Amino acid sequence: MKDKYILGFESTCDETSVSIVRNGKDEIATIVLTQMDTHANYGGVVPEIASRMHVENISILIEKLFKDANMTIDEIDAVAVAYGPGLIGSLLVGLQAAKTVAFLYNKPLIPVHHIAGHIYANNLLKPMEFPLIALVISGGHTDIIYMKEDYSFKKIGGTLDDAVGEAYDKVARVLGLSYPGGPVIDELAHIGIDTYNLPVPKNDDSYDFSFSGIKSAVINLYHNEKQKGNEIIKENLAASFQNRVIEILTKKTIRALKEYNVSNLIIAGGVSANKGLRNEFIKLCQKEGIKLSIPDFKYCTDNAAMIAAAGYFAYKLGIIADLSLNAKATDNLY
Ligand code: KG4
Ligand code: ZN
Repeated sequence: MKDKYILGFESTCDETSVSIVRNGKDEIATIVLTQMDTHANYGGVVPEIASRMHVENISILIEKLFKDANMTIDEIDAVAVAYGPGLIGSLLVGLQAAKTVAFLYNKPLIPVHHIAGHIYANNLLKPMEFPLIALVISGGHTDIIYMKEDYSFKKIGGTLDDAVGEAYDKVARVLGLSYPGGPVIDELAHIGIDTYNLPVPKNDDSYDFSFSGIKSAVINLYHNEKQKGNEIIKENLAASFQNRVIEILTKKTIRALKEYNVSNLIIAGGVSANKGLRNEFIKLCQKEGIKLSIPDFKYCTDNAAMIAAAGYFAYKLGIIADLSLNAKATDNLY
């Protein structure tokens, strides 16, 4: 088959990103503009500011992308866009830009679920092997997904309340750490010791998760100690929190691999950048004879290369939208 070049758009939250990927695996050029520093002033993403910043930047990024890639829009085969889930105002900007390009240049428009994008970030590393289990851990998701083949997603477990990244961000906020909390807690955890007595969250036989309990436990512990005038050792609290989180994520994922008789594991989403988690999964997968794939750090958090990669596989299956495609703040992948 002739090479296919997919132009991807990602604007689900606070990253404006465009990318060109060949055949779902070769990244030609990508630009990711993060608004993190702006939102850090408010301790979290402010949706109205996020959508305004997407509007300001998206056209400039498209122009720069084609310069970087040394390509013209005519050479593109299709336009893939993350239509959801995410912040509605943010989503609309990327979607409108993608629709405009698709309409003006007469290109097929491919709707990509943001989580499918995170999963296919792994294909930018090496071709994904099936069947596989995907552990998707981000600011909005904590899902265990079984994939029998390309673009087949069966959810076998998910969070009942907070997503794991959300719990990281909320814990960090209470401890007075900067946004986003995940990387900061990860750093602290590495220099801390696991001394605080925290529960292993939803430590049961299901594949579901719950992180609001451990989040509240950390917050309560922090306030109680403060009221008593005791010093909180943030590094140790970070290490204790992170260890419990890693314990439950690894335990349930490894059990799913065994039950589904699958020997390929991929990890996806912003929290897959977590060093403690990566190390623990590498160790366990070696022990269990499981082939593990984790995206490069730059593909862990939101980017359009992953959307263009997933878009290629959707395109091959004929998943094409018309211009009535709408943004969806919530949407099931399964
Ligand atoms: O995938 P992503 O960029 O956006 C969503 O789709 O949500 O994930 C962002 C989340 C944030 O909650 C952030 O704190 C978390 O990923 N994160 C981390 C790390 N780096 C980013 N969490 C734990 N450890 C990290 N090193
Ligand atoms: Zn994401």
